Amino acid sequence: MSFNKTKEIIEEGDVVILYLNPSNMHSLEVKAKIVSKKGEFVDNVFQTTYGALKVISLVGQKYGSKIELTRGWAHILQPTPELWTMILPHRTQIIYSPDISLIIHLMELKPGSKIIETGTGSGSLSHSLIRVIRPSGHLYTFDFHEQRVSVASTEFDRHGLSEFVTLKKRDICLEGFGEELNHKVDAVFLDLPHPWLAVEHATVALKRTGGKLCFFSPCIEQVQRTCAKLICEGFIELNTYECLQREMNVQYRSLPILDFDCLKYKHTNEDMTEKNERRERKQEKLLTVMHAQSLPGHTGFITIAIFPPYCHYYVQK
Ligand SMILES: C[S@@+](CC[C@H](N)C(=O)[O-])C[C@H]1O[C@@H](n2cnc3c(N)ncnc32)[C@H](O)[C@@H]1O
Repeated sequence: MSFNKTKEIIEEGDVVILYLNPSNMHSLEVKAKIVSKKGEFVDNVFQTTYGALKVISLVGQKYGSKIELTRGWAHILQPTPELWTMILPHRTQIIYSPDISLIIHLMELKPGSKIIETGTGSGSLSHSLIRVIRPSGHLYTFDFHEQRVSVASTEFDRHGLSEFVTLKKRDICLEGFGEELNHKVDAVFLDLPHPWLAVEHATVALKRTGGKLCFFSPCIEQVQRTCAKLICEGFIELNTYECLQREMNVQYRSLPILDFDCLKYKHTNEDMTEKNERRERKQEKLLTVMHAQSLPGHTGFITIAIFPPYCHYYVQK
């Protein structure tokens, strides 16, 4: 239940994040026994690079606390959609937190919003969407891949999120989102290879009072084709964004200190050489901020479009 509400103390059945370092995190379900590869119930012992952890021993510990392992220590954290995005088992390409934050902002999601997402994929975006729209909103998420639907469903259940999400196996390009969603949702989000094939279905699902359609596409050709379709269907105010991160490294570095004395007076050539040598020897440790040498590159283009109120009545199909 720990994705759903903030808690102080870990209880049996919670999902926790075991944090060893930024690139070594794991999600654990706090239970005494698990089923082994041989199909037998065995003690739930998790092996880390710093030693083994008896998972049920976490019951009663405070979230955020530091725990001893045989060869080191770890922190046990409350799960968040951001942490989940960093550690989830990838079944597909996923959307990462910087793009997710822009998507949520552009679609103007808030508690109570009703939204459609397709495809569900690995459920990375879904977890963040659910956090924004709950407790009174709802996420309808679709994927045509049976196994992905089944795994995502188990994860929503295990994370205590099932009441906020309806997950269906469906090819939405062929079948649409289903009559029960006609004119019911505030926004539609598309992350699939042919978003233009879903645009007409989206117009039927969006509320008569209007709504937003957002799609994520790695290639500009997908963006062009989908935008052309959006304009045909009466969408307005199309904008495409690319969210690029610039990481900063903050570190102490030894830097030469400039000696401005040598600039104040006239010197002979010999004086200047001596001064320059002295200046190079004088160094000081300073706190510096530098751009990282390599930066995360292109992920995808995010396009947002508005479906104006009562547009269905004006657009000639
Ligand atoms: C890139 S993944 C989505 C990843 C997801 N946004 C995330 O953050 O985890 C694309 C998904 O769309 C699904 N998909 C592709 N075409 C589809 C269609 N016509 N109907 C339903 N799902 C579709 C694929 O099965 C795949 O799981």
